[in-house]
Amino acid sequence: MPIPESFIRELIDRSDIEDVVGDYVRLDKRSGGNRFGLCPFHGEKTPSFSVNSSRQIYHCFGCGKGGGVISFIMEIENLNYPEAIEFLAKRAGMQVPQEARDPSAKRRERMLALNRSAALFYHEQLSTPAGQAAWDYIARRRLSRATVKNFGLGFAPNTWDSLRKAMHAKGFTDQEMFDAGLLRKGQKDGFYDVFRNRLMFPVVDVRGNVLGFSGRILGEGEPKYMNTPETPVFAKGRNLFALNLAKKTKRPYLILSEGNIDVASLHQAGFDCAVASLGTALTNEQAQLLARFTKQIILIYDNDAAGAKASDRAIEILKKLDLEVKVLRISGAKDPDEYIQQYGAAAFENLLTQAEDQLDYKLRTMQAKYDLSVPEQKVAFVKEAALMLAGLSSAVEREVYARRTAQLCDVRPDVVISDVERTRTALKKRSDKASQRSHSPANAAQPGERDLRYEDPASAVAEEGIITLLYRDPGLAGANRLPSPDEFTSPALAHIFSAMLEKLSLGEEIDANGISGSLTSSEISLFSRLIERPVSDSHRDQALNDYIRKLREEKVNKTQADPLAILAQKRAQQHK
Ligand code: CTP
Ligand code: MN
Repeated sequence: MPIPESFIRELIDRSDIEDVVGDYVRLDKRSGGNRFGLCPFHGEKTPSFSVNSSRQIYHCFGCGKGGGVISFIMEIENLNYPEAIEFLAKRAGMQVPQEARDPSAKRRERMLALNRSAALFYHEQLSTPAGQAAWDYIARRRLSRATVKNFGLGFAPNTWDSLRKAMHAKGFTDQEMFDAGLLRKGQKDGFYDVFRNRLMFPVVDVRGNVLGFSGRILGEGEPKYMNTPETPVFAKGRNLFALNLAKKTKRPYLILSEGNIDVASLHQAGFDCAVASLGTALTNEQAQLLARFTKQIILIYDNDAAGAKASDRAIEILKKLDLEVKVLRISGAKDPDEYIQQYGAAAFENLLTQAEDQLDYKLRTMQAKYDLSVPEQKVAFVKEAALMLAGLSSAVEREVYARRTAQLCDVRPDVVISDVERTRTALKKRSDKASQRSHSPANAAQPGERDLRYEDPASAVAEEGIITLLYRDPGLAGANRLPSPDEFTSPALAHIFSAMLEKLSLGEEIDANGISGSLTSSEISLFSRLIERPVSDSHRDQALNDYIRKLREEKVNKTQADPLAILAQKRAQQHK
């Protein structure tokens, strides 16, 4: 049974968009009817993300995302429609009618409850005699009791079914534990515990949900870590280890490092701003998550080739979000944990002050590839550096780092500066040409949403027009003249249009909130963009007729252009 419309209405009424968005975005003072902030969906320096409180919608003029409060939650929390309803209901202190609850939302909630129980179980095992093995390891890694408690660390005993039995007693089924990645299916005799004889690190999100686990072997052995597989609540690439703790830091930056142990050790030494990326190369989603909590990141990857490569990749990803990125080089130890154990917290604090900004870091690693005593290599280095610096939008930055490059290889600064500027002009010419191409009429009509594309841009213009007009003036729907969604060439627009028709036929209002249930998030974005378009007050009737005519003309043009299609159509009609 679907969630009753009346419930959704009330939920939306009780979930003011400014409040909800305000949990994620700092909104500026009102300007006109809108409040602005930095878009949480793409990186930017100046706010182009707007919230309109009277219409209860948001819209980003930068990336084009927009919609109502439900689609905002779908987008930012990565939830589907019913899950977003559940999320908002919880927030508003409302209960979704039991019979209308979506199975996937229920399942999610059960899985989180199971994970929480499992985390507690693992933690409690530390107080059993068998837990001594874990304490021995914890002591060897010099982690304190307070750290164990802070991270909710635990111990998975060296048995096949301890967790399974304990969770049965709590009312969870084998299937539920299997779905949560806590049990595996055996050859014949059923299920067994996945995590055995491991130090357990719960992965907790910023709201305190236990999403999954990372289990480290006690000592040497393979695999060193076992992680919860992808489940409905856990995806490595979408979460960061210890962000739930680090988000509370008073430091103005977050430290991004590689290992769970490094993070635990950093927090213990007072660097409570450390997070790790759960064993994956940093993803865009993780970077966006970071950007919600800080403007400055210090990268501290392991002191080896893999760590250097991971840093390079992370810099590229973080830079796109306009985060200030610094890189800390660890020397005399292989990772932050070892460094702190060896030299202490004060030495590490000092090391932090020496973190290089990412451009210095890049210049230095670039330079390391060349032997600057060889003239040709010196030239090649300056060329590569100029190419990188030419891409900087700030002229001051270009000059500062051009001077630094000049210093590195002992040439006159103005030579490098002019090289950088010349490269920049050449690059700009090239990109202007490319953008001219992408602004050709056929491309101009394309929707901004990445996963949508109009096969027939000319017809799509008419389809868009019909949607905009109908939204502004539902009265136009009379007189039996609206086309059928089947006549639309764009599936996304057809989808939007039929959702609108559905609302109309029920006598309900069409708005960005009410319509979102049946649409994908890209479609919602597209819809909310279309309804923002200005519409002239006069001649709407005429305009609608024109669009409809255009839509049908386009269709005729197409079929005429393809005689085979006409034949096929005729044949199909004869067979009817
Ligand atoms: N990792 C993983 N699977 C492995 C090895 C590592 O998922 N087989 C992930 C873990 O999240 C780990 C991170 O990659 O924390 C970094 O790996 P590593 O540096 O080897 O682990 P540390 O946690 O630093 O542990 P240690 O200090 O004991 O080496
Ligand atoms: Mn490590």
